[in-house]
Amino acid sequence: MKQLELPPRVLVISASPNKDGLTAACAAAALQGVGDAGDVADEIRLNDLKVGMCRACENGWGTCLSKHECQVEDDFQALHARVLEADAYILVTPVYWGEMSESAKAFTDRLRRCEATRGDRSGLSGKPVIAVAAAGGSGNGMITCLASMERWIEHVRARKFDLIPVNRWSREYKLQAIQSAAETMIRLETTQSA
Ligand SMILES: Cc1cc2nc3c(=O)[nH]c(=O)nc-3n(C[C@H](O)[C@H](O)[C@H](O)COP(=O)(O)O)c2cc1C
Repeated sequence: MKQLELPPRVLVISASPNKDGLTAACAAAALQGVGDAGDVADEIRLNDLKVGMCRACENGWGTCLSKHECQVEDDFQALHARVLEADAYILVTPVYWGEMSESAKAFTDRLRRCEATRGDRSGLSGKPVIAVAAAGGSGNGMITCLASMERWIEHVRARKFDLIPVNRWSREYKLQAIQSAAETMIRLETTQSA
C-alpha cells in the first residue's frame, strides 16, 4: 500500500456518556476502518470535555461572526483548533429525542457559528464527513437526527461522505458498514491527495 508522506489527519468525534454502548461500538468500528486504511485517527469523546451550549451572545451574534471564534471560554477553543487541523471526520452521536445528543449539539452549534460564517473559507470546506446516528432505544428518530447532521455538514461547507443510521437490530452489519465507510473514505482521500 502506498505510504503518504503526510497522512490525512482523521478525527472520530463521539458524543455519548457511555463508554461501552452502541455509540462507543460505532466509534470503535470507525477507528478500526481508519486503521484498515493504514492511517490513525484520534477519538475525541465530547462527554469527557467541558463544551457548553452556545449562549447566543449580544444580539444573537458574538465573536463567532466578527472573528470566527467563540467567546464562551471552555474546552471548545482547543477543540476548535484541533478540528481545523484535521482533514476528515467521523461524527458519531446517540439519537436522543430524534436529535443529536446534547454534547454533539453544543459542539456542532458552536463550530457552525464560527465556521459557517466564513462561507467557502470555512475550515471544514470540502473535507469529508461520515455522520453516524445510533438509535439504541426504540430505533425512532435516526433519520431526523441524520437530517440535522446533514444540514450541519452543508452549513460548514464540509462534504457528506456518508450518513449512516444504526439501531439495535442493524448493529452487526452497520458496524461493518461504518468500518468499511471509514476505510474507504481514508483510502480515497489518500489517493486524491497523493
Ligand atoms: C434522553 C434520551 C433520549 C433518547 N431518545 C431516543 C430516540 O429518540 N430514539 C431511540 O432509538 N433511542 C433513544 N434513546 C436511546 C439512545 O439512542 C440509546 O441509549 C443509544 O444507543 C445511545 O446509547 P449509547 O450511549 O450506549 O451509545 C434515548 C436515550 C436518551 C438518554
